[in-house]
Amino acid sequence: MSASSLLIQNAQILLPSGEYILGDVEVQAGKIIRVGDSLSESIGETTVIDATGLTLLPGVIDPQVHFREPGLEHKEDLFTASCACVRGGVTSFLEMPNTRPLTTTQAALDDKLNRASQKCLANYGFFIGATPENLPDLLSANPTPGIKIFMGSMHGDLLVDEESALDPIFANGDRLIAVHAEDQNRIRDRRAQFAGSTDPATHSQIQDNQAALNATQLALKLSKKYGRRLHILHMSTAEEADLLRHEKPAWVTAEVTPQHLLLNINDYEKLGSLLQMNPPIRSPHDNEVLWQALRDGVIDFIATDHAPHTLEEKSQSYPNTPSGMPGVETSLALMLTQAKGGRCSVAQVANWMSTAVAKAYRIPNKGLIEPGYDADLVLVDLEHYHPVLREEVVTKCGWSPFEGWNLTGWAQVTIVGGQVAYDRGTLNTAVRGQALRFGS
Ligand code: DOR
Repeated sequence: MSASSLLIQNAQILLPSGEYILGDVEVQAGKIIRVGDSLSESIGETTVIDATGLTLLPGVIDPQVHFREPGLEHKEDLFTASCACVRGGVTSFLEMPNTRPLTTTQAALDDKLNRASQKCLANYGFFIGATPENLPDLLSANPTPGIKIFMGSMHGDLLVDEESALDPIFANGDRLIAVHAEDQNRIRDRRAQFAGSTDPATHSQIQDNQAALNATQLALKLSKKYGRRLHILHMSTAEEADLLRHEKPAWVTAEVTPQHLLLNINDYEKLGSLLQMNPPIRSPHDNEVLWQALRDGVIDFIATDHAPHTLEEKSQSYPNTPSGMPGVETSLALMLTQAKGGRCSVAQVANWMSTAVAKAYRIPNKGLIEPGYDADLVLVDLEHYHPVLREEVVTKCGWSPFEGWNLTGWAQVTIVGGQVAYDRGTLNTAVRGQALRFGS
């Protein structure tokens, strides 16, 4: 075995079939080589991990994050964010283009890839952002998981809210289009109606369910017109879930965030503007309908929309407060806690947070524990509970909307490309992830 060999012993291993075996996984040169019963240590230097009592899952692929570099590093940067990732069991991420400068050209994309190669502990991919004018960039950008369109909740160049500007983007090219679906015209009108309110809870009334539904309907219409791959980002409403339940072409996918499943408008009282995000947090009824849609496969997978803002920024008065909350450190434990509580199975969580994401974005060799696959893995502890504590969060913004939640399924060991990036509280900051590839 080479120096990069790893032997994970005595783990409860989730197999691609959804079944478990109690056994070992051997990793060489970043790949899973063998999965089986009592594999013996080969000759040579091997790192052995005793996984007794732990469950081995494919590493989380978080398909929607905002990591703020370049340009907004006072909130987060690619190093701090990727540290938070591996603490949370996230081994790969897909990052959004609303950095400064905006990621709307190949040069900006290359700059992010270059920065990430130098400082990211996790594997990385970056969306190219659509503007009303950059179609040639959208057609040629490489490598990228897809085109991000902000149909609403954005200002400046990244807002593409008119059908006349959206149509050519859907009509040309064939790569995946991921939409932030909110109707900007409706938001504008309703903002005027609620002018003067300083209550963060009005955010969910201004950017209401109808605003989300209008935009999702328009994106779906254009996707069907051109047979274009479409992904609905952070779907938040019962109405959108019902729409997709009745009308979801095979080339359309959707995601939901843990916060849209687990938090609702009743939480404004406790969290205030920390709960403010786009699309907004909805009602308990929306929570339930989104859960059902996820379990039924109407919603395909989970993303965090990790969108860190400092506590100082969040402590201004609404509507001057920025929208967004961090998520990469807590998403896996939150979902596994739900699985332990009987709302879903651990195998479903692994599918929603890894396997199904790799499939939708056509990321080769990731998302399963199988010989030949990349050794992006997470060992979780499903026996013990530990609360989310502000003093333990790694994200630069320094807070979590889930503080105080008592969770199980915390990542104990996170492995990126066969390297141990996180081990029971200790980050190995020398580990570097790789650029993700995306099939066409
Ligand atoms: O709440 C949000 N914040 N939603 C987004 O789509 C953007 C994000 C951010 O970048 O802060």
